[in-house]
Amino acid sequence: MSQSKILYVDDEETNLINFKMAFQDHFEIFTALSGPAAQELFRENSDIAIVVADQKMTGMTGVQLLTILHNLAPEPIRIILTAYSDARDIIDAINQGRIYEYILKPWEEENLLLTLKKAEELFLLAGENRRLLEELQQKNQELKETNERLLADMKKRKETEKALFAKQVELAHAGRLAALGEMASGMAHEIHQPLTVIQLDAENLQFYFSRRKQKSLEAESVQDILAQVKRAGKIINHVRAFSRSDFGGMQCIDPFVPVDNALSFFRQQFRAKNIELKEEIKDVPEIKTDPQKLEQVVVNFLSNAGYAVMKQAEKNPANYRKRVIIRLFSGQRPACSANQFNEDQCLIFEVEDNGIGMIKQIKEHCLEPFYTTKEVGEGTGLGLSIAHGIARELRMKLEIESTPSRGSLFRLLIPLNGC
Ligand SMILES: Nc1ncnc2c1ncn2[C@@H]1O[C@H](COP(=O)(O)OP(=O)(O)OP(=O)(O)O)[C@@H](O)[C@H]1O
Ligand SMILES: [Mg+2]
Repeated sequence: MSQSKILYVDDEETNLINFKMAFQDHFEIFTALSGPAAQELFRENSDIAIVVADQKMTGMTGVQLLTILHNLAPEPIRIILTAYSDARDIIDAINQGRIYEYILKPWEEENLLLTLKKAEELFLLAGENRRLLEELQQKNQELKETNERLLADMKKRKETEKALFAKQVELAHAGRLAALGEMASGMAHEIHQPLTVIQLDAENLQFYFSRRKQKSLEAESVQDILAQVKRAGKIINHVRAFSRSDFGGMQCIDPFVPVDNALSFFRQQFRAKNIELKEEIKDVPEIKTDPQKLEQVVVNFLSNAGYAVMKQAEKNPANYRKRVIIRLFSGQRPACSANQFNEDQCLIFEVEDNGIGMIKQIKEHCLEPFYTTKEVGEGTGLGLSIAHGIARELRMKLEIESTPSRGSLFRLLIPLNGC
């Protein structure tokens, strides 16, 4: 182990020589004849462990020197050599912690060696303490950082788990819907045949009763059967349309054409029901789409809007004017870049009504197959799920806005694809 360094300051050269001779076997000794020389040595050797200074020197006292050195670096152990045991300034310096000990002159080699060894031990111990403290602080800092990282990881993991769970729920739901759709279309196909037979037989019976020209319970029942068969047929046709992918195919068309086709039926129907129909149609570019499918979406929107305003009229007859607005126009960012539908330009098709509107729960479920709030037998609950399926297939985005008792708006964002 290398020896600890001691700086000994005294303005009498013989004292310096004696000190060096006495302790050089135990320590590496540096000596200085004055305060300024001692400061210089102290600055040059940052690892000095002990400073021993004579109190009575010309220029500055030992206590003054040790105070200066203490301000430069507080770690080394400072010792004063003095002839007076009760010098006030020495006692003060000890009390203020600037001096570790004072040794009375003339010093005895054995005693001073013991004091120096004790001072060295203290210096090394303090150094070790400092090192351990720094290590502890560093470890604490590392622990803190690891902790923060762990917390962040945990948060990320929780978020990922949450997203995964949501995706799984979504997937399971989509899977259930797909299975349900397949099953429904199979059932629709199977039921179609017996239904046709029932219809034919009922028509025969109807013919039979009409020939006898008499009103009877049986004749009425036949009428009922035919009405119910018609309703069942309508449901089946809906289901088949829902699962069919063999429509007219993709063509470049003026999008107004399918909209107008759908309107040709509703214009007359709405007039009959006293529903005001506003058409806000702008000139728009051609798009590549399946016109029949687009028409089917428009039909479903209009049919729902008609129903919603009629229902609202039932609830609120006074001063209420049933109104449906249909819009077709070219749109631009930001409307066209809504959510994941990242288009700078698109066509926007809207059907807005001032009907019953939807509460949150209905709005959340209205796109699901067979979801309906209509009376039993009034609706299949397939209209919007078909529209939604078509919109997805044609790369359109379907948006719904609705306020209960105020009305709803169904919007299609239609991509402009090279025509
Ligand atoms: N414009 C609208 N205003 C208020 N509610 C609506 C509107 N459009 C749809 N809904 C709600 O969404 C449900 C599902 O609509 P969807 O078109 O799929 O089926 P449906 O209209 O009930 O049945 P169908 O289309 O066979 O007549 C409706 O029952 C209704 O509750
Ligand atoms: Mg509908």
